[in-house]
Amino acid sequence: MSPAGNRAVEAAREYHDRTTHSYASVRQSGHSLDWDTKPFLYKVYPDLPVTPLPREFPQPVQDTLGAVNAFRGAGGTLTLEILTSLLFFTAGLTRKKTYPGGGEMHFRAAPSTGALYQTEVYLVAADLPGLSAGVYHFSPGDFCLRRLRDGDFRSELSAAALDDGIAASAATVVLTGIYWRNTWKYQARAYRHLFWDSGTMLANLLAAAGAMGIPAHLITLFLDARVNGLLALDSDKEVSLELVPLGSAAAPAVSAPVEPISPRCLPLSSSEVDYPLVREIHAAASLVEPDEVKAVRASATGVPRSVPTTLLALPEPLPVAGRPLGETIIRRGSTRQFSGQPISARALSTALFHATRGIPADFLPGPGHRLVDLYLIVNAVDGIASGAYCYWPEAHGLEQLQAGDFRGQAGYLCLDQALGSDASAVIFFLAELGPILERFGNRGYRLANLEAGVIGGKCYLAAYGQGFGASGLTFYDGDVVRFFSPHARGKDALFVTVLGRSVRGAPGIEVPLQIAKK
Ligand SMILES: Cc1cc2nc3c(=O)[nH]c(=O)nc-3n(C[C@H](O)[C@H](O)[C@H](O)COP(=O)(O)O)c2cc1C
Repeated sequence: MSPAGNRAVEAAREYHDRTTHSYASVRQSGHSLDWDTKPFLYKVYPDLPVTPLPREFPQPVQDTLGAVNAFRGAGGTLTLEILTSLLFFTAGLTRKKTYPGGGEMHFRAAPSTGALYQTEVYLVAADLPGLSAGVYHFSPGDFCLRRLRDGDFRSELSAAALDDGIAASAATVVLTGIYWRNTWKYQARAYRHLFWDSGTMLANLLAAAGAMGIPAHLITLFLDARVNGLLALDSDKEVSLELVPLGSAAAPAVSAPVEPISPRCLPLSSSEVDYPLVREIHAAASLVEPDEVKAVRASATGVPRSVPTTLLALPEPLPVAGRPLGETIIRRGSTRQFSGQPISARALSTALFHATRGIPADFLPGPGHRLVDLYLIVNAVDGIASGAYCYWPEAHGLEQLQAGDFRGQAGYLCLDQALGSDASAVIFFLAELGPILERFGNRGYRLANLEAGVIGGKCYLAAYGQGFGASGLTFYDGDVVRFFSPHARGKDALFVTVLGRSVRGAPGIEVPLQIAKK
């Protein structure tokens, strides 16, 4: 791949085309997992000062659905206990699973491709009661913060993102992605997963912040190298993805000086494989000059959509799920097997409605705007004929594309996984990448994948809140577009989320970890 700036959009097109799955490519890949080099799932800084987080913190008790569609929280003050809660419900270790033959898996608050958890969490915080101003890494394994820098660096982060709100926030969460954790299994396609997985975590974070009344919004457009430098990342291996300022506090007069630091980290495995394609697409989608950030941000305008006039009306969505957000997240787990039993039209309507009420993000001008389109295969939903549909969030209705039983195709399109054929409904996220790249440059590739991940994460929460199951899935790119064509002609497939009734009793013993409520 040739080196390219953000505006040379062939880079994103080329990356996307070179990482598509097809029936043949999956069978010819020849890639096998080297268990001896499986990356360790926690980032360990052995020498940094440790701040243990409080073990007692409040839970988000607002009903799941209200939290999922809360556009921005308001009224709350960010204390250390609330910050701890937000970190736990975004990225905390929530379950352990032991296997009959020995071995233990650790699961986190948000789903992640292959349970590889390449998304790391950092904080750039003001002085808070119980936490001195600094740059911190959140370690879910021992539930601590480790201090990378001592002092108030909010102005530096604010300058890196050209966003004054960061300097006036109480703390900003920065999500990063470690390539090797995910490329180990998924090779260069892992770059897409950085945005799907950070997207599902952001769905949790925005919902938890909304539930606790903490103002939060998503910043995706920033000077990449400057943020990476503040976090002292080795940017050939780990890069900043998104920022979420939380709460408010008096802005600092000046930033503490950003000296170069190189904190020691333990290696993830005995050796690593470099995937140049991943580094190259990231470089091509990085913003280098402040004017580039401003120009891309100026592209966040509304794009009118012509909603079809004849849509199948969905039943009124439920306003409440009956399960508080905190409980939903703790009990959540990706469905391993669907029963094939139907969900109701109202349950599907509720999940679709609440998941698509908008994301408070710098690349979208407000609620009601989106980059991605939602296509569905309905396998078993009481009150909705089986078939292929396009969902229009603006009108909360379904455009029927084709009636029929497509269970077989749904399983096939989801990379031959039974989860696709046994689910009640399969949601395919597609987008017209051409115009998105024209507007945002290569950065648009990150944004479209991220938006699909966030909506997918919200679907998970809306499903589990209502008591049924969900999973993210991967797919055969071209076949998905062909299946939904001619309606989807010219689009690309970005992500899949499946919804349905889970079969209980998967192998292994799951132990939800106890958290103390305050
Ligand atoms: C973006 C994304 C894609 C996923 N793709 C698949 C998939 O193709 N097949 C599958 O069985 N599970 C898939 N999953 C589910 C993960 O395997 C699951 O999240 C992970 O094992 C952690 O388990 P948990 O979600 O139960 O906590 C996906 C999850 C996400 C977030």
